[in-house]
Amino acid sequence: MSLETRLWGTKLFRETLKAYKKFQWIHTTMPTQIRMECTKVCNLSCVGCRRIWEDDISKVPGDKHLTVDMVKNVVEQIPGLRLLGFSGDSEPTVNPYFWDILRYLKSKGVRSTFTTNNTLLNKNTIKLCEDYGIIRISVSQTGATKETFEKIRVGAKFEKVMENNYLIGNSSIPLFLNFAVLNRELLDEIPEFFRIAKDVKATGVQFLKLMLEDDKHLSTVD
Ligand SMILES: C[S@@+](CC[C@H](N)C(=O)[O-])C[C@H]1O[C@@H](n2cnc3c(N)ncnc32)[C@H](O)[C@@H]1O
Ligand code: SF4
Repeated sequence: MSLETRLWGTKLFRETLKAYKKFQWIHTTMPTQIRMECTKVCNLSCVGCRRIWEDDISKVPGDKHLTVDMVKNVVEQIPGLRLLGFSGDSEPTVNPYFWDILRYLKSKGVRSTFTTNNTLLNKNTIKLCEDYGIIRISVSQTGATKETFEKIRVGAKFEKVMENNYLIGNSSIPLFLNFAVLNRELLDEIPEFFRIAKDVKATGVQFLKLMLEDDKHLSTVD
């Protein structure tokens, strides 16, 4: 009989559990994981991207990039923070302070993860990600052939992204490949997408549902 099973029989255990359930919200008022935008800037102009929406972050006035001091401010206010993920509607790796931010987070014992278009990483920065204990890099791989990929990921080079996929896949960092299902043509490329994921040693894949602001954006992803 396990300790839990034996304890469950005692009144003290049941009362303690009841009290814990009543007050457990106290532990959950401070988040242990948060997600943030790292910058408002992007180096690509992908078809269908939410950056064309009227209320998108890229149009908000103010600082373009998150700085180490801004992140410090957040970390100091959330003592139990364990994970900070960078994602949203911009490209984290264009932030010139990104690597300093990751180094700072590591020094505070906060793990990081980020979603990237994977056009700007290289051998050295992937090594930095390993050093900073990044728990996962999610790469947007919308399109499994050069033609489709470059038609959608406007400004990206398929070969460069694939080269970086291999580098991450062969590093100690878990790699996720994200596939936004934006149109029918892309649906046909799903088998090839799985082949690529296996080839680059991705540890997981994720399919993203198409999000549209309103009908006027339908034509962009037809
Ligand atoms: C907006 S990007 C930001 C991170 C980074 N720039 C990148 O491309 O990975 C995050 C993911 O959202 C997806 N995405 C962009 N617009 C979308 C939309 N309208 N519906 C669904 N997914 C979208 C992209 O394909 C990408 O995989
Ligand atoms: S790289 Fe990411 S943020 Fe930039 S346009 Fe493409 S999907 Fe949008």
